[in-house]
Amino acid sequence: MSVVIAKNLTKKYNDFVAVDHINFQIEKGEIFGLLGPNGAGKTTTIKMLTGLTSITEGDALIGGISIKERPNEVKKRIGWISSEVIVDDDLTAWENIEIQAKLLKVKDWKERADAILEYFGIKEFKNRKAGKFSTGMRKKLEITMALLNSPEIVFMDEPTIGLDVNTRASLWNLIRQINKDYSATILLTTHYMEEADMLCKKIGIINKGKIVALGSPEELKEKYGGDVIEIELKDGLNVELNKFGQVIRKDGKISVKTGNAEEVLLGVINTIGSNNIKSLRIKKSSLDTVFLNLTGGSLEEEGEFDLRKFNMMMRRARR
Ligand SMILES: Nc1ncnc2c1ncn2[C@@H]1O[C@H](COP(=O)(O)OP(=O)(O)O)[C@@H](O)[C@H]1O
Ligand SMILES: [Mg+2]
Repeated sequence: MSVVIAKNLTKKYNDFVAVDHINFQIEKGEIFGLLGPNGAGKTTTIKMLTGLTSITEGDALIGGISIKERPNEVKKRIGWISSEVIVDDDLTAWENIEIQAKLLKVKDWKERADAILEYFGIKEFKNRKAGKFSTGMRKKLEITMALLNSPEIVFMDEPTIGLDVNTRASLWNLIRQINKDYSATILLTTHYMEEADMLCKKIGIINKGKIVALGSPEELKEKYGGDVIEIELKDGLNVELNKFGQVIRKDGKISVKTGNAEEVLLGVINTIGSNNIKSLRIKKSSLDTVFLNLTGGSLEEEGEFDLRKFNMMMRRARR
């Protein structure tokens, strides 16, 4: 059963198309990842699916209900965790949960809240102010709040952004756990390849508002990826390797792009002659190669200017 069906979902800001006729489905129990660089349209997509912003064209069915026609109905059935703050630091964890329960009009929330807090091992801290929570505890509180109404799907917008490596890894475990133990279908967005690869059963790669590929990590690697054998030869040698794959020569190195490196490796070595090889390295197909092949770009945002971070830094500096 499909919990989410997006049909030509489109968002325009004036003439700018932020999300461009995207189509995808999420099956019950799946962790679905929307993977793309900054500005790709991930947050806008989530905002449309959760009724937080209007839809310009197309529609989405959440649990069979049109978000365009019955947004309030949908909002009651979903959970949402934003990268923006939803927890009030001055209130206790329990008070935060209570507000959420009232917002969502959930009845009998207390028992469920206690059970989830217990499950996460933070029940004993429920009367502590959220502001005193560690990042990890806070994430657990956010997830508790998102699970309160037994949602059909939980939306997580860049859940691990800005977290250190350890907290990120433990959040991956939490996400896997609630996916299993609470049968939560999850849509998460990320610009971390590793995260999508580790967590998601299915991935939609989004770039400039368009979904450019859809499939399981393995399918994507198989279809758009490819291994690379990188060889450094002893000087002055020139060998013909085209029959093993696409050959790229650069900086004195030869790269052979091929489906499965292991299958052609012996042939390559024999053709060159092991005595003539200075160094040899295999790079296995990864979502990185997939993304590069599909978009010609990289997911890393090196040198990108983040206005929000910049403003925050300036504010801190002024204090
Ligand atoms: N309220 C808005 N008005 C105009 N443009 C917007 C607005 N929100 C987002 N955008 C633009 O839409 C594009 C997609 O943004 P967003 O969905 O936030 O991307 P992502 O979450 O993948 O980083 C970006 O180019 C962004 O600048
Ligand atoms: Mg975003």
